[in-house]
Amino acid sequence: MHLRAETLADIPHVRRVTEAAFGREDEARLVDRLRAESPDAISVVADIDGELAGHVMLSPMRAPEGAMGLAPVSVRPDLHGKGVGTALVTEALDRARAAGWKGVFVLGDPPYYARFGFHTQTARGYASSYSGPFLMGLELEAGALSGEGALSYARAFDDLAE
Ligand SMILES: CC(C)(COP(=O)(O)OP(=O)(O)OC[C@H]1O[C@@H](n2cnc3c(N)ncnc32)[C@H](O)[C@@H]1OP(=O)(O)O)[C@@H](O)C(=O)NCCC(=O)NCCS
Repeated sequence: MHLRAETLADIPHVRRVTEAAFGREDEARLVDRLRAESPDAISVVADIDGELAGHVMLSPMRAPEGAMGLAPVSVRPDLHGKGVGTALVTEALDRARAAGWKGVFVLGDPPYYARFGFHTQTARGYASSYSGPFLMGLELEAGALSGEGALSYARAFDDLAE
């Protein structure tokens, strides 16, 4: 498996894998909107023997400053449970840390995201409509998410259907 930054040629394949993973088009459209909205987004693909196996996106949040939102993560359904998702998220977080981002938020399953160091406790100071048991934070820089305030994802998320 080769983990690398998404290229222009990957875009239609990312769309296909995202639709297949979620069984609907909403998240694929979200990826397209995030890419258009956020030049600093980190978009990583997993390539297995020249075929796109999965994709993850990190996009700059409107608040707090220096934070990114992790979403969506998509792995081709026939490859689930083989470590592709874990490898993608780990790589994206490493890239965000190297680029100087301070923290990452994710809305998801706590047992799954705990393996990367995400905790609901870390997000507790940040208020949003997503607050609750599924909102988690990860500090890429010690103490970066110890404050409090509003939490606001990139605009593209505003249009995501529930
Ligand atoms: C979630 C997803 C990205 C995981 O990718 P993957 O390559 O199958 O994951 P890995 O092989 O690295 O890890 C497998 C682990 O994830 C867990 N897992 C898989 N899907 C999960 C889900 N929806 N919720 C919670 N845990 C999940 C498995 O139980 C397994 O746990 P274990 O390691 O303790 O046995 C993939 O299943 C997927 O594309 N799902 C559909 C889209 C989605 O729900 N994305 C996440 C929200 S943005």
